[in-house]
Amino acid sequence: MATAASTSAAAVLASRFLRRSPRLLRRLALSSRAPPAALSARPSSFHCPAPLGPQQLGHRARMGHSTAAAAAPALGLTKPNAVEPPQITFSAKDVEFSEWKGDILAVAVTEKDLSKDSASIFENAVLKKLDNQLGGLLSEVAAEEDFTGKAGQSVVLRLPGQGFKRVGLIGLGQNAPSTAAASRGLGESVASVAKAAQASSAAIVLASPSGIQEEFKLTAAAAIASGTVLGLYEDSRYKSESKKVHLKQVDLIGLGFGPEVDQKLKYANDLSSGVIFGRELVNSPANVLTPAVLAEEASKIASTYSDVFTATVLDVEKCKELKMGSYLAVAAASANPPHFIHLCYKPAGGNVKRKLAIVGKGLTFDSGGYNIKTGPGCSIELMKFDMGGSAAVFGAAKALGQIKPPGVEVHFIVAACENMISGTGMRPGDIVTASNGKTIEVNNTDAEGRLTLADALVYACNQGVEKIVDLATLTGACVVALGPSIAGIFTPSDELAKEISAASEVSGEKFWRLPLEESYWESMKSGVADMVNTGGRQGGSITAALFLKQFVDEKVQWMHIDMAGPVWNDKKRAATGFGVSTLVEWVLKNSS
Ligand code: BES
Ligand code: MN
Ligand code: ZN
Repeated sequence: MATAASTSAAAVLASRFLRRSPRLLRRLALSSRAPPAALSARPSSFHCPAPLGPQQLGHRARMGHSTAAAAAPALGLTKPNAVEPPQITFSAKDVEFSEWKGDILAVAVTEKDLSKDSASIFENAVLKKLDNQLGGLLSEVAAEEDFTGKAGQSVVLRLPGQGFKRVGLIGLGQNAPSTAAASRGLGESVASVAKAAQASSAAIVLASPSGIQEEFKLTAAAAIASGTVLGLYEDSRYKSESKKVHLKQVDLIGLGFGPEVDQKLKYANDLSSGVIFGRELVNSPANVLTPAVLAEEASKIASTYSDVFTATVLDVEKCKELKMGSYLAVAAASANPPHFIHLCYKPAGGNVKRKLAIVGKGLTFDSGGYNIKTGPGCSIELMKFDMGGSAAVFGAAKALGQIKPPGVEVHFIVAACENMISGTGMRPGDIVTASNGKTIEVNNTDAEGRLTLADALVYACNQGVEKIVDLATLTGACVVALGPSIAGIFTPSDELAKEISAASEVSGEKFWRLPLEESYWESMKSGVADMVNTGGRQGGSITAALFLKQFVDEKVQWMHIDMAGPVWNDKKRAATGFGVSTLVEWVLKNSS
């Protein structure tokens, strides 16, 4: 008997089609390619307008569309297609799996679950019953396809005349999932068999549900759900033929049921929509996703969730007033003007116990500048991903706009710009002055991220926050040190390190703490300015973090996350959405 109510994901994921503000569009149309003079004639910052009327509901705006249409068309005439994101309803149910009806019944099995007794019959109760129901077919196919339950293995059977059209065996390896990462992996495997079968409904059942600890079931259910959504999602906005997602309904059997699980499943959907948004921002090329478009996307989050968000976007003139010389120097070569973006989350009711800031590197493209990226392995063609930190920031903002945690105020801050080459650009050797008055000799224009973050961190400290986390695709050295899937973290605060490590256990994202070795500051000294911006090849991620520390108030707890490796999945040739899940968890842990 089905007892649990379903959790609708549709509303959550559909919210990606955001309403847009005419005032904002007018403003961005002006600022997108207009010279500073035109900008200075206008107010140089704005707050998000009130929610739009019903006539605008359902009006679809896709990333890149509106600004490109309102201002100059994107270089190369590219417009992303409006592709529907996956809209899946997850339901936690207490039903007899053998009576479930639908397209594919996915049975997650460990290697042990496959063991048989002396009569060659499965010892596991679920497999035994299923095999019996299928007249031994399950046993046969497992043997024929050499399915041993190893993680990543799967086998699917088409079954005429059953309540479910297909049964799939999904290998879990030696044990049932005991971490968020493993649970997410199970969801991804289910997504891939459901995709191959073009299933519109699926059920997930564990052959040994008792293998999952009672207190881990909620986390497991949420991680399986988000793994399924994220596994199904393929960004085809820039392909002339987009792929359709068929899956609409997923039933989770044996992981409990009731309001608590339902709430977790809603959380998984809110989170997934944030991760998908983050991925889309990173996948968007630099000719489409300019700093102006990034600002517009951020502002759309604020207007969609206007009960909790306000947006402020600062143009060049306003940034000059705030003396952001370090950030503006990076932006100086580009025809696409910089946009300093600040979203503020305040919970309804206004009772705030904690104030946080999340700062993201937002280089919509990093050519290296005069120290241009050349040579094999420099990955210049991938440098659209250099706004991955900002994508994590806004992905988290989108998720939190839906989750609406109480008791916490969060500032989302991105100094967005492009690192290009032109006669107006900064030269190697130039001395720039940041908004805290410190001077920097730019000995390498390719170490631009830290220059933009310097002013963003000063701005964040001025918001009166207790804790700041910054995320940046900051150094190739961090990829050398930790490889492609682990982010480096740097913080003087053991407390903050613990908080992020606890959040990462729930998110399944990987981090490793590296030292802020003060003695390495020696290499960052300049003969003519307060510091240089690069200190040579050795310990390159550490000296970058030490540089950022110069711009953080000592009273504020601060952490720097170098996500240059995990921002991108080389195999899938696509963005990962890294950072979103951990940030959301961290904010929730700071809420009341
Ligand atoms: N965006 C890059 C870092 C990067 C490199 C991320 C490769 C992902 C893959 C950053 O702006 C950069 O260019 N850093 C330099 C610093 C150096 C000049 C000290 C680097 O890592 O080479
Ligand atoms: Mn660079
Ligand atoms: Zn960069």
